Amino acid sequence: MTGGGSLRGRVRVTGAKNSALKLMAAALLASGRTTLEEVPDILDVEIMSEVLRRLGCDVAFERYPAGSGGGGRVHIEVPERPSSETDYDLVRRMRASISVLGPLVARLGTAKVALPGGDAIGSRGLDMHIAGLERLGATVVNEHGFLIATAPKLVGTSIWLDFPSVGATENLVMAAVLAEGTTIVDNAAREPEITDLCRLLSAMGARIDGAGTSTIAVEGVEELQPVAYTTVPDRIVAGTWAIGAVMTRGDLLIERAVAEHLSVPLEKLVSAGATVEARPDGVRVVMSDRPRCVDVVTLPYPGFPTDLQPMAVALAAVSTGTALITENVFEGRFMFVNELVRLGAHVRIDGHHAVVRGRERLSSAPVLATDIRAGAGLVLAGLLSDGVTEVQDVRHIDRGYPDFADQLRGVGVTIERTERPD
Ligand code: UD1
Repeated sequence: MTGGGSLRGRVRVTGAKNSALKLMAAALLASGRTTLEEVPDILDVEIMSEVLRRLGCDVAFERYPAGSGGGGRVHIEVPERPSSETDYDLVRRMRASISVLGPLVARLGTAKVALPGGDAIGSRGLDMHIAGLERLGATVVNEHGFLIATAPKLVGTSIWLDFPSVGATENLVMAAVLAEGTTIVDNAAREPEITDLCRLLSAMGARIDGAGTSTIAVEGVEELQPVAYTTVPDRIVAGTWAIGAVMTRGDLLIERAVAEHLSVPLEKLVSAGATVEARPDGVRVVMSDRPRCVDVVTLPYPGFPTDLQPMAVALAAVSTGTALITENVFEGRFMFVNELVRLGAHVRIDGHHAVVRGRERLSSAPVLATDIRAGAGLVLAGLLSDGVTEVQDVRHIDRGYPDFADQLRGVGVTIERTERPD
């Protein structure tokens, strides 16, 4: 890709990866045909489709026509009695496979799901998923690399999460919808993707109160029905575009972006000097000067999302002044900074803080995308680099940004995707 231009025009954002994967898992809670709209056409959705197929479901993906932002429709046909085992080869490829645990225990009284292991952004525990299921009456053992949960009957209870974990909140809500009695999940995660999941479950017949707040109450029901449902737009993809527009002093209409889901990031962009307009069809971001530095602290929603932290570091790397970026959610999430330094960024890491001294321009170099979000951050940095930047291992970016290169080209970037012989 060649740096120097600015992002101008419009981009369309499809549904959120982090919601669609859980909506697909939730389909397991009802036999029959669930249809999900605005599902991103990405590898993780393919992996989740394979997880569901091995559990006995039929899954079909229909891609929307070009210009949709890379979305499609998924049909999931769930049998009367799905199987209960998910193998390591799939869980290893995608940690979110763990979200079938709650629905399977709820539906079948048993689930055997491989343990995911670590990944490039740090260790990621499952203790809260396990403790919560145990509170609901399940027995959970860790044997030969598998978590095996059994519960002839799940019974509603109160669960306090030590940290508002997204994955644990989702798994526990999906387990509780078919439990006997009422479950209260306290210190629950409040991400829009949790609200989205609860909306799908409610449409299926679940009784849920407090989605989007720290206390979610679930009154168990006997049975759920399959429905058709549209995934919430991806706020992380939308936020990536917004930050890209500011870095490049562009003018971008981000169609389907929901400003309310991006309050803190958009406020930061206004502090950096941008004009942000929330519109019924999306969010428009306009920037004319070099951005001013802004400090960022990642926190669970509604705080600044950790998934936008690499883009915040990239923004700081080309802003005036010095910014302090603090990462509070994943301890290993600054590992990509070494790649950004290859582009000439001035970044010093001290524990979970990054001190970033902005430069007017970066300088192109080959860099390696180490995970989805780091990869997107590097692409944004490449937009401000003189010359041609080669981002390698873009398969990571593909996992979160369907059609990214095409969309970048559509808003004025000279970019080419090449396959490398191994
Ligand atoms: C989800 C998102 C990810 C996002 C993250 C935080 C998906 C597929 N991924 O990940 O993109 O960055 O939310 O917004 O939706 N933890 C424990 N024990 C547990 C559960 C979590 O210690 O039982 C820790 C993790 O190690 C991590 C922190 O809690 O440090 C946050 O994890 P969590 O909110 O669960 O993130 P995920 O659901 O894995």
